[in-house]
Amino acid sequence: MKLAISGKGGVGKSTLAAALALLMAKRGRNVLAIDADADANLASALGLSAEEQAAIIPISEQAALVEERTGAKVKQYGQMFKLNPRVDDIAEGYATKHQGVSLIVLGAVEQGGSGCACPESVLLRALVTDLVLYKDDALVMDMEAGVEHLGRATAQGVDTMIVVVEPGQRSIDCAKRVFRMAEQVGIQDLRIVANKVMSDDDEQFIRKALPDCQFLGVIPFSETLRQADRHGLSVLEGGSEVVQAFEHMLHELEQGTL
Ligand SMILES: Nc1ncnc2c1ncn2[C@@H]1O[C@H](COP(=O)(O)OP(=O)(O)O)[C@@H](O)[C@H]1O
Ligand SMILES: [Mg+2]
Repeated sequence: MKLAISGKGGVGKSTLAAALALLMAKRGRNVLAIDADADANLASALGLSAEEQAAIIPISEQAALVEERTGAKVKQYGQMFKLNPRVDDIAEGYATKHQGVSLIVLGAVEQGGSGCACPESVLLRALVTDLVLYKDDALVMDMEAGVEHLGRATAQGVDTMIVVVEPGQRSIDCAKRVFRMAEQVGIQDLRIVANKVMSDDDEQFIRKALPDCQFLGVIPFSETLRQADRHGLSVLEGGSEVVQAFEHMLHELEQGTL
């Protein structure tokens, strides 16, 4: 099962990505979690300690790796470099293991943007494509709200794209943009997860704002989950209500793709 999780900053993408990754690992799957958000916080949602998090060097900052694979010096412009760097062993060699989940943090590419052709960005794109298309086991990608940088081929390797929203207009507007982009790159299965829902009113607000969308589930607002974040605990320490919601969503996904 290959999942991409998107949505506005702060809506709970990493929370959901970590929960699904940890639950799949508990069920014995080999799970690869990719933090593809420049504002990376998946490691913390998975419950890695501050020291473990500090030890992770994002792929984009591993100058030696970028240089070895692309044949180009990082942060020097106007050079020739390989457009198809070898990436097949990076997941094995550079992932951080935690409770059955292998985590890869891609990191930000300073130049940014989909058209960026610096060596770091070429390596990251090749890596994501390779991982999504060839990795057999479960894959969860935590990503920012843009999907343009997912090439068409990569996007088609993703079984389901989940867009997380909260009961606020800005996250709804962002979800609509993500849906449009996802459709353009050919992602077939798009689902909404409503997060931080405090009342029926909240849920109805989201359902009315996105009337034609398929809902995967609703996660209640949880003080316990907020506390888990503050204390550096994994999202599965977020209280039985939210864990039940995560389990329910995973069950739904498994019905669809297994
Ligand atoms: N259902 C929820 N109830 C309470 N707090 C939540 C809930 N979901 C997420 N949060 C909190 O919201 C903040 C942002 O969540 P996070 O998953 O990091 O968002 P994103 O990855 O989309 O930026 C975190 O502090 C997280 O603990
Ligand atoms: Mg995040």
